[in-house]
Amino acid sequence: MKLFVLPLLISTAVSAWEFPFADLFSGTVLKQQPFSAPSPSSEPEPTSAVPRVAVIGAGAAGSSAAFWISKAKQRFGIDVEVDIFEKSDYVGGRSTTVQPFNDSAYAPMELGASIFVEINKNMWRASNEFNLTRIGFTGDDGEGMGIWDGSQFLFTEGDLGWTGPLSSWYDTIKVLWRYGFASPTKARALVKNLTDSFVTLYDSNSPRWSNISSIVEHLGWDAQVSQTGLDYFTAHGVSEKFAREIITAATRVNYAQDVDTIHGLEAAVSLAASGAAAVEGGNWRVFDQFVKRSGARLLLNTEVQSIKKVSSGKWTVKSTAGSSDYTAVLLAAPAPNSGITLPPYVLSQLPDVAYIDLHVTLLSTTSVRPNSTYFGGARVPDMVLTTRGAEFNSLSYHGRLKSATGEPIEPAQWLVKIFSMQRVSDEWLEDMFGKPGWVLRKEWEPYPVLPPTNIFPPVKLDEGLYYINAFEPLISTMETETLASRNVVELMLSDKFDLPGLCPPLAESFSTEDKKGDFVYGWDCL
Ligand SMILES: Cc1cc2nc3c(=O)[nH]c(=O)nc-3n(C[C@H](O)[C@H](O)[C@H](O)COP(=O)(O)OP(=O)(O)OC[C@H]3O[C@@H](n4cnc5c(N)ncnc54)[C@H](O)[C@@H]3O)c2cc1C
Ligand SMILES: *[C@@H]1O[C@H](CO)[C@@H](O)[C@H](O)[C@H]1NC(C)=O
Ligand SMILES: *[C@@H]1O[C@H](CO)[C@@H](O)[C@H](O)[C@H]1NC(C)=O
Ligand SMILES: *[C@@H]1O[C@H](CO)[C@@H](O)[C@H](O)[C@H]1NC(C)=O
Ligand SMILES: *[C@@H]1O[C@H](CO)[C@@H](O)[C@H](O)[C@H]1NC(C)=O
Ligand SMILES: *[C@@H]1O[C@H](CO)[C@@H](O)[C@H](O)[C@H]1NC(C)=O
Repeated sequence: MKLFVLPLLISTAVSAWEFPFADLFSGTVLKQQPFSAPSPSSEPEPTSAVPRVAVIGAGAAGSSAAFWISKAKQRFGIDVEVDIFEKSDYVGGRSTTVQPFNDSAYAPMELGASIFVEINKNMWRASNEFNLTRIGFTGDDGEGMGIWDGSQFLFTEGDLGWTGPLSSWYDTIKVLWRYGFASPTKARALVKNLTDSFVTLYDSNSPRWSNISSIVEHLGWDAQVSQTGLDYFTAHGVSEKFAREIITAATRVNYAQDVDTIHGLEAAVSLAASGAAAVEGGNWRVFDQFVKRSGARLLLNTEVQSIKKVSSGKWTVKSTAGSSDYTAVLLAAPAPNSGITLPPYVLSQLPDVAYIDLHVTLLSTTSVRPNSTYFGGARVPDMVLTTRGAEFNSLSYHGRLKSATGEPIEPAQWLVKIFSMQRVSDEWLEDMFGKPGWVLRKEWEPYPVLPPTNIFPPVKLDEGLYYINAFEPLISTMETETLASRNVVELMLSDKFDLPGLCPPLAESFSTEDKKGDFVYGWDCL
């Protein structure tokens, strides 16, 4: 297989890549290079008595888990082999890009997770260390944002300057605050309260958690998680109108849920916007680097079918590549959607976590803006957010169609992204944009349905079996998946390798003053 893959890598896929890495050829292939099912040589065969860890899923959670394990390997010299099972033919999972017209002549566009923010310190640090360029959202041709309720714009704000090739609702909301509303100050204070506690997760004394409830309690998030966004924000002096118009616009575009159904924590996360950014070429490049730098063996096109306990400390992972035994298994995909058969005593511990069914439609059009007739003749802003009455969740212009090298294509076409709960028909698109140049539809299970709750899936399902995505019903983002994986890797290192975690124990004389301003626990140790 390697002989087959190498020429492909070298001939077509390298242009944008920092090259070479010592472990470049460990089996990782770039996502735009699908290849056939793994040959026997890539089967997960035990090669030695070295402890083996299986990571199931190569998205944010699984790729970062492998990376964290490699940090422990470097620091403590432990011997461990890591296999990453990924059923699709690419790394990144819900973070992935597509090329307009499926043509590599054009710059790629995010199909899934598009934004992270500055307090997302793992994503920030990773993009720095891996020399990946972050794109911010300083606008060029921005035509503002509006909140559409299905019959009128409740609010529009022109000239926000938010538009960029990968635009963000976060900045939109941030700018909204700047322009003033009755309640934004209180809302902002609540979000600040959230982000202040969130960033303590990067401190050297950040706790480890074996269940989500304990970290919720530690961070003081009980009230936020146990009530709806509407109840939480109005209980703290935010007006219902602000919540039902502004906050719901943010929860709908971020989580496809309304402020009166989603829990208060995730509603606040939807508003935590400063420093929104994306990685040029795709956020998945961070996860691809995690995998490459981890030295783990990546098994693409390899679906895990079942996980069984053989004996204490021994698990059999059965996949389309065969069966193999592991000391520990890290489940880095949502269990309900993974199709994996788990032992009944494990399944019975998992509360029902439903995932949203979201339709993402990407298209290119020669129309500079959507058909104003649909919007009652109003001038239509570049980003249309919505409240409950609308037919779609969000509709946003993402700038000009550009070449792979970033030059706008002539004659001009614009890229558009629509999130909706139903499929958007060809007729609807044609009415809105004229005949589109390119259309791509993708149905995702992007994040869980997030009702107020105090019951979460266990992080540790059994001795040696861990569930990273247990974090998602609390917060579902790329960053929090890397934090959840850090926690799981620390639990596993402690349980299976007798290690203190990712870092040596703190000295008695430890003081939080010791850390540098850019200290990020896990990347750095005191
Ligand atoms: C449209 C959309 C917009 C979003 N916007 C944002 C955003 O702006 N910012 C943000 O931070 N987050 C956003 N999210 C959420 C974000 O994508 C997720 O929280 C995060 O990427 C989840 O990462 P993960 O690794 O936990 O899961 P995934 O990315 O889902 O990775 C799981 C992997 O496991 C694989 N897998 C599943 N079952 C098996 C099996 N049986 N065997 C082998 N492999 C298996 C899957 O193929 C997948 O690659 C968005 C998501 C979507 C879809
Ligand atoms: C994109 O093109 C590749 C080959 O160039 C093809 O294998 C793939 O199926 C195409 N994808 C779509 C979505 O059309
Ligand atoms: C990143 O870029 C810096 C400065 O150009 C360089 O010194 C460093 O080696 C690069 N790191 C990697 C991992 O490519
Ligand atoms: C957040 O608010 C709660 C309740 O008012 C308070 O106890 C807590 O100290 C605040 N946290 C931060 C980090 O400000
Ligand atoms: C959750 O973890 C805390 C702290 O580790 C522990 O005290 C508590 O018993 C755990 N709860 C459950 C339900 O496992
Ligand atoms: C705009 O929408 C109206 C009403 O649906 C439709 O009659 C008209 O043809 C559309 N205009 C364009 C340019 O598609």
